Parts: sequence; structure tokens; C-alpha cells
Amino acid sequence: MDVLVVDHPVAQTRLTAMRDARTDAASFRAALHELTTTLVYEAARSFPIERYPIQTPVAQTDGTRLANPPLLVPVLRAGLGMADSALALLPESSMGFVGLARDEHTFEPRAYMESLPRDLTGRPVLVLDPMLATGGSLEHCCRLLAERGCTDITVICVLAAPDGIARLEQTGLPLRLVTAAIDEQLDERKFIVPGLGDAGDRQFGGM
Ligand code: PRP
Repeated sequence: MDVLVVDHPVAQTRLTAMRDARTDAASFRAALHELTTTLVYEAARSFPIERYPIQTPVAQTDGTRLANPPLLVPVLRAGLGMADSALALLPESSMGFVGLARDEHTFEPRAYMESLPRDLTGRPVLVLDPMLATGGSLEHCCRLLAERGCTDITVICVLAAPDGIARLEQTGLPLRLVTAAIDEQLDERKFIVPGLGDAGDRQFGGM
């Protein structure tokens, strides 16, 4: 699995704001919004483009467009905070949704919502979820996509733990990971350390 760590200063300053426990919910959401822009920007660098003729006010020339705009899939809840900025950067995209909640005791994901196109053959997908911890949630989501014929999945995360990366690698699915950082480990609650806490709670409040 290709792993790209976006160590750009613009990304790392936003990540620092998200990590800081003193950052309030509004500032946390703003930092996630801006960080997502940098992550998706880097992910899109390898997107195939096609040329087509356009007319400027002066002359005819060639323009550029995405050859195959992606499907964006935010993983609810926390991935919702990445959806707007990804769609703003890639307005040609369409969007699907997956709702997952990690069980506090088993740490395995429970699926509660799924709204995806039936056939994803030939369509690139960008999965948006700030946290890759044990990898259970993103594995579940990526399997849903693969079952629909998707062979081109890019996972966009803010933080990834080594356990989660290993779990995704073991799936053998056609995946690429773009993240702002790879953190040290998971604690006994399977929270990423040093991490940033619970990205869903910090955006939207506790459940
Ligand atoms: C968090 C996070 C990921 C998942 C990561 O969501 O947003 O989806 O846990 O953990 P994993 O890699 O061990 O599966 P959570 O289940 O807390 O739901 P929320 O987004 O609604 O807060």
C-alpha cells in the first residue's frame, strides 16, 4: 500500500491546532477543514487529466479537466468535517456516505448507514475519515467499496496509527493512504497516542 505523509507546513500547523487540547470545537472544525484541503490537494496530484479545446477572449487553446472525477465518501460522523472542503476542491465529484460507530468494548465498527452507488467499476474513490486507529472502520468501508467493483481507493486521514496501517495493508485491497502524520501507538482504549482525542466529539460534542 502506498502511504503519503503530507508534511507541508500548512498541513502541520493545522494538525498542531487539532492536537492542542485547548482548541475549541469551532477552531477544531476550521483547522480540519483547511487541513483536508491540503490533503486532498496532494492526493489529487496523481489524478489523470484530459485536454479539451477552449476559447479564451483572445485565442483558441487547450484546457484541462479531470478525466475521471472521484466519488467522495465521508465516514460519519467524524469524516463529515472533511466533506465540504474536499467537495469545494473537487467540485466535479459526487458523494456517497457510510455511517460507522466503533464499539467501546470490542473496538469493532458497527455500521448504521450506507448510501453508495451500486456499481463503482472504473470509479476512483476518496474515503474521508480523520482517524485510522485499529483500522476496523476503514477496512469495513473499503470492503464495501471493493464489493461494488471499486479498484482505486484513496483513504484520506489526519492521523494514522501503525496498527491501522498494517490492518489495511493485510486486506490486500487496492488502497493508497494519504495522511498528515503517522503517530506512535494506540493506548488501552485504542485511542491514537499522542493523537488528538476523539475527532467526532471534538467537532460535534460527546454522545
Ligand atoms: C472514530 C474515527 C474512525 C474510527 C477509527 O469514529 O472517526 O471512524 O473511530 O477507529 P478504528 O480505526 O479503530 O476503527 P467513531 O467510531 O468514534 O465514530 P464518530 O465518528 O461518530 O465519532
